[in-house]
Amino acid sequence: MDQIRIRNFAIIAHIDHGKSTLADRIMEICGAVGAKHEEQMLDSLELEREHGITIKLKAIRLTYRSQIQNPKSEKRNNTQIQNSNSQNNFEFRDSNLEFADSVYQLNLLDTPGHVDFSYEVSRSLASVEGALLIVDATQGIQAQTLSNFNLAMNANLTLIPVINKIDMPAADVVKTTKELTDLGFKDDEIIKVSAKTGENVEKLLDEIIEKIPAPDSSALPQNDPSINSGHGSKLAALIFDSSLDPYKGVIATIRLFGGSLKVGDEIYFLATKSRGQVLQLGYLTPKPHYTEELNVGEVGFIVTNIKDLSLVKVGDTVTHPKEMANALPGYHEARPVVFLSFFPIEASDYPKMRDGLEKLKLNDAALAYSPESSISLGQGFRVGFLGLLHASISQERLEREYGLDIIVTSPSVNFIIDGKTINKPSEFNPTPNSEVKEPYAKITIFAPQQYFGQINELIYNKRGTIEHSENIGASQKIEANIPLLEILIGFYDDLKSQTSGYASFDFEVTDYRPAKLVKLDILVNSEPVEGLAQVIPVDKAEEFGKKLVAKLKDEIPRQNIPIPVQAVINYAKIKGGVGGKILARETIAAYRKDVTAKLYGGDVTRKTKLLDKQKKGKKRMKRFGNVEIPQEAFLAVLKI
Ligand code: GTP
Repeated sequence: MDQIRIRNFAIIAHIDHGKSTLADRIMEICGAVGAKHEEQMLDSLELEREHGITIKLKAIRLTYRSQIQNPKSEKRNNTQIQNSNSQNNFEFRDSNLEFADSVYQLNLLDTPGHVDFSYEVSRSLASVEGALLIVDATQGIQAQTLSNFNLAMNANLTLIPVINKIDMPAADVVKTTKELTDLGFKDDEIIKVSAKTGENVEKLLDEIIEKIPAPDSSALPQNDPSINSGHGSKLAALIFDSSLDPYKGVIATIRLFGGSLKVGDEIYFLATKSRGQVLQLGYLTPKPHYTEELNVGEVGFIVTNIKDLSLVKVGDTVTHPKEMANALPGYHEARPVVFLSFFPIEASDYPKMRDGLEKLKLNDAALAYSPESSISLGQGFRVGFLGLLHASISQERLEREYGLDIIVTSPSVNFIIDGKTINKPSEFNPTPNSEVKEPYAKITIFAPQQYFGQINELIYNKRGTIEHSENIGASQKIEANIPLLEILIGFYDDLKSQTSGYASFDFEVTDYRPAKLVKLDILVNSEPVEGLAQVIPVDKAEEFGKKLVAKLKDEIPRQNIPIPVQAVINYAKIKGGVGGKILARETIAAYRKDVTAKLYGGDVTRKTKLLDKQKKGKKRMKRFGNVEIPQEAFLAVLKI
């Protein structure tokens, strides 16, 4: 299709503000799906449905017949229209086939709503000219609305502000409008819709045609003359999603910024320096539709002959090996920032866990893992994730799809000791003269103004500093720098409780800074349990140790002897007989009687139930000498 009839756009929003529901309505209006299709076409993975979030990006191509004559967005392309008039008998089409000119190709990109996946969001925003910024009228702007807004502004997108859920009794359209106008939008450009009932969604589609510019190869993001030189002759396609199909090979979803792609073409990936061939080309409608060629301005997918997902990365540029374009900007490796250890409860499940991780990795380039061997926990893996949600989804998939029972240790981050990166608390052994660094994140908090005092205090307590704050409507946006370690553990819960649940936050890892940290070993029955060790700030060690030990006392079941639980620094020195310090100690009392003893009388069902429960509970325990430590104890740190 002529570029001038293409509109590429994304939908961005805070979690649950209605992206997927709106996408469903748009697809219905464009006739892509019947009204009775399964709810939320774009959230296809079973787990995604359960978490209610969109993980995988997908692009859907739709056909829309607009009522709009001469959209504003096309005015700047008048020369292009005139050119194509003379070249393609456009005048004839114009007078006789009027409607042909009002038919548009819409490429709708769905973006994941969670901060763990913000790099993918940034790459899909780099693939479009415009975006719908959806705000739930019952919630107003949230932190993630703002971070998406900033990403979209940085990508120079044309934004259409949309207030959703206007059908709901709790909708506060006036307040939400005020928040959007505070962001710089004009009152009359805000479209108010109900994605549920479909009200005003057609109007929104016309607004897309009217406002979002058609792809214009002379306005490439990086203005690279080698790609464009006026004709977009060299192939430059940005990958914004890639996945491995077990039968076909890697499938990359791309946006063409220059040139064209044909089935059979040799292709080259600039960042990974790998080669491949185009086996098939197509786009989703949402069913796959295969085509012989994709052209500049279009969005679609390539089926490659490549079997290794790590060679086809999000953000990379696809080009022709014989006529290479420059790389499109913005590529970086998806780097894991949060690390957890996974140990199978049954040692014999280790190979199964390795196979499971290997298979997960095939379709998840951001997942990183390496074998880990622990004296107390046996053989397992240290696994790196983009964030805690990414971690919990992966854990669930391992458990569900591979039937594994897993002990997961508390999350940690990368530390740099004298230039060497480590990601396990057990390896955290700096000398007194070592230079220790930890990762920092820039966080954006969005909350009603009256909570500023509490938020300020929380950030201070978490070793952070506020860099900027401004009012937006009745709310406040606060930007701060804070150690990543502090936000992993308890930050969001604290923020929610300090602000009666009204605050939302988002973060982005920025840099490494010097830190005064210490390793806290936890001894259970006088033996250190590796999975319980924590790296924490020196001046918080004592308070933290006391809280953790008290929590562990609650989480570790009683045994038939009293069990001491201790928090210790410099354990190696204690062992050696010099230095070291016990910061906290609790004793788990021995149990006195059978758990069922109190169930006097003959209520067998209750008794069996209790025993069953106990048996089930046992599944998630790991034995350490005399003591059984349950999964909850390993994550107790998250509840401090
Ligand atoms: P993520 O994929 O998690 O980011 O969520 P999302 O933004 O795609 O939100 P989703 O479309 O899943 O909507 C969240 C919830 O709001 C669902 O229960 C929808 O049914 C509901 N919802 C969405 N739009 C509307 C609307 O206009 N009116 C009403 N009443 N409910 C809506």
